[in-house]
Amino acid sequence: MTYNFDKITDRAGTASVKYDLRQFIFKNPDVLPMWVADMDLETPDFIREAVVARANHPIYGYTFRSESYYESIINWLQKRHNWKVEKDWILFSPGVVPALNFAVLALTNPGDEIIVQPPVYFPFFTAVKEHNRHLVYNQLQFKGGKYSINFDQLEQQAQTARMLILCNPHNPVGRAWKKDELSRLADISIKE
Ligand SMILES: Cc1ncc(COP(=O)(O)O)c(C=O)c1O
Repeated sequence: MTYNFDKITDRAGTASVKYDLRQFIFKNPDVLPMWVADMDLETPDFIREAVVARANHPIYGYTFRSESYYESIINWLQKRHNWKVEKDWILFSPGVVPALNFAVLALTNPGDEIIVQPPVYFPFFTAVKEHNRHLVYNQLQFKGGKYSINFDQLEQQAQTARMLILCNPHNPVGRAWKKDELSRLADISIKE
């Protein structure tokens, strides 16, 4: 299938957070809303067709997560990332932001320290603060035209922190962390 990444699709009037809330959020309807990772690329036909086919069934009853649901995730991770995951490792979440909140509640206690790496998408902060955990800032460093992790500071902070919420790819700095950076992060997490 070929994709047209140059096509501009007007989203005005679709209750779009990115466009229809510009005046409310920025007090300016002309701002370029690059704060949220909300795609302007059209959803491919085969996905839309599957959604429409399901919607055409006249009964919208309760459903469960079928074998094909799990298989599609397992096969994707195997094919694209050469990563073999087991079915019972997969948990449902209605989105990434709800998953951040669930993880904070499930894996930490009130008062625990949780590290985030600013500048970062704002729900990373609220997921910590709204559950009465303590935010620890491992500020990213801007050097040589790109952002990197301050590992020296992180090693100190990891001695008392209970969790780190990693943003990868990072919004807004645009980094996809390299293997050596992720390995170093994993080593610190295991050690401390
Ligand atoms: C880093 C990051 N994580 C998560 C989200 C939102 O994820 P979801 O819609 O799955 O909750 C965004 C949206 O902009 C984001 O930038």
